[in-house]
Amino acid sequence: IPVDSFDLVVFGGTGDLARRKILPGLFRRFLAGQMPEDARIIGAARAEMDDAGFRALVAEAIGEFGGPASRKADELARFLDRLHYVAIDAKGDGGWPALAQAMRPDVVRAFYFSVAPALFGDLAERLHRHGIATPESRIVVEKPFGRDLASACALNATLAEHFTEHQIYRIDHYLGKETVQNLMAVRFANILFEPLWNARHVDHVQITVAETVGVDGRGSYYDKSGAMRDMVQNHLMQLLCLIAMEPPYRFDPDAVRDEKLKVIHALEPVRPEDIVRGQYRGAGKGTKGSYTDDAENRDSRTESYVALKVNIANWRWKGTPFYLRTGKKLRARASEIAIVFKEVPHSIFGEEEGWRENVLSIRLQPNEGMTLSVMIKEPGPGGMRLTEVPLDMSFADALGEDGTDIPDAYERLIMDVIRGNQTLFMRGDEVEAAWAWTDPIIAGWETRGDKPRGYDPGSSGPEDALMLLHRDGRRWREIRE
Ligand code: BG6
Repeated sequence: IPVDSFDLVVFGGTGDLARRKILPGLFRRFLAGQMPEDARIIGAARAEMDDAGFRALVAEAIGEFGGPASRKADELARFLDRLHYVAIDAKGDGGWPALAQAMRPDVVRAFYFSVAPALFGDLAERLHRHGIATPESRIVVEKPFGRDLASACALNATLAEHFTEHQIYRIDHYLGKETVQNLMAVRFANILFEPLWNARHVDHVQITVAETVGVDGRGSYYDKSGAMRDMVQNHLMQLLCLIAMEPPYRFDPDAVRDEKLKVIHALEPVRPEDIVRGQYRGAGKGTKGSYTDDAENRDSRTESYVALKVNIANWRWKGTPFYLRTGKKLRARASEIAIVFKEVPHSIFGEEEGWRENVLSIRLQPNEGMTLSVMIKEPGPGGMRLTEVPLDMSFADALGEDGTDIPDAYERLIMDVIRGNQTLFMRGDEVEAAWAWTDPIIAGWETRGDKPRGYDPGSSGPEDALMLLHRDGRRWREIRE
């Protein structure tokens, strides 16, 4: 779908996120022919710099983070022509009149707040004071959206002083991942799955987001956050919502978000015995490479891994637990949602050793695809022996070129901002509800002085996390690429 012409202002345009994701992503959309001829991107940050300086910085960033696309020199030069720069003082008046002057009338205005949340209020207020924001303008904000319910409410209130909810785009980049959106297509564009998608037929659900990276380099942020705030409150929560929600009446932003919100409201509080926290140890002797080393905090009790059992108290899911886990420095980078179905009500084959439950697994990354495990008869004359086989589909194989040319989450989401489509962005009430559920869990750890369990880098996490499922007669799926 083509997008309208736009002026996109990236506050924090010289920062890490802009260099790594936003600007290379915009370049790839440009290459894909998705950017109108006269669309413009305006970097805004504190540093004094002219357009040429900013273009040089962006060219370098695209060279470093843009992948193969960055080698297209002619196109890169044409893309850079669209870039401008305004030096801005977020807490003063410097630069704002120049920004006001740089904006064109009659095109979409979008403002990406790629800055610390403490500056959101200052930016929002100045955009209005200097007559830059119009009633149709959009602002984009990043996670972390608060660190608890109180701070998220305060942020929402600050933004609401200047913008209405339909102007605010809260990014959770997991929602921009192709396979995550595919969850909705699989559920609601097929008759096959929905009749089985409930506690009568689903034994349990596993959501795994495993990473191999540690927190090296971003320890100062991460140590105040931990896996619960960094990953579960947002990304895993969104995945859970998309699996658990009722069918929205239409693929429409508020229809979808209303259904997700109902799921969050239906989450039961998590009991302390249903959570395992972990922290990675050093690789060899001593502590080199350990979490506490990476975070430069010897006494840190922050978790780099968390596994938990979540119950949803509604008609569809009562009695079917959702097991969630995520962690750093694990065995493989692998994210997967597995829907594990129940046993057949009665086996006509008698006690059959080979019998396994059906599992629908949706691989988010890498090797995006879906596998449905089914039971069939083992070939040969040896009687009726059952064996499990996968019905396997990788998007790359199934869709050919189209399957490999998957836009990065940020590319997709930025274009949705320009199109004015909020479906894949979090609404304020959703974020608050997610914090309301998360807060007591973290508060509980703090009051009890809970300490995370150690686990080895390259492992599947702490031993205790295995117990979380074993004691329910279940087992985690293997973490592998
Ligand atoms: C970010 C977290 O939101 O998501 C990081 O802050 C994490 O800690 C990252 O590494 C994972 O994203 P992806 O797209 O690599 O799975």
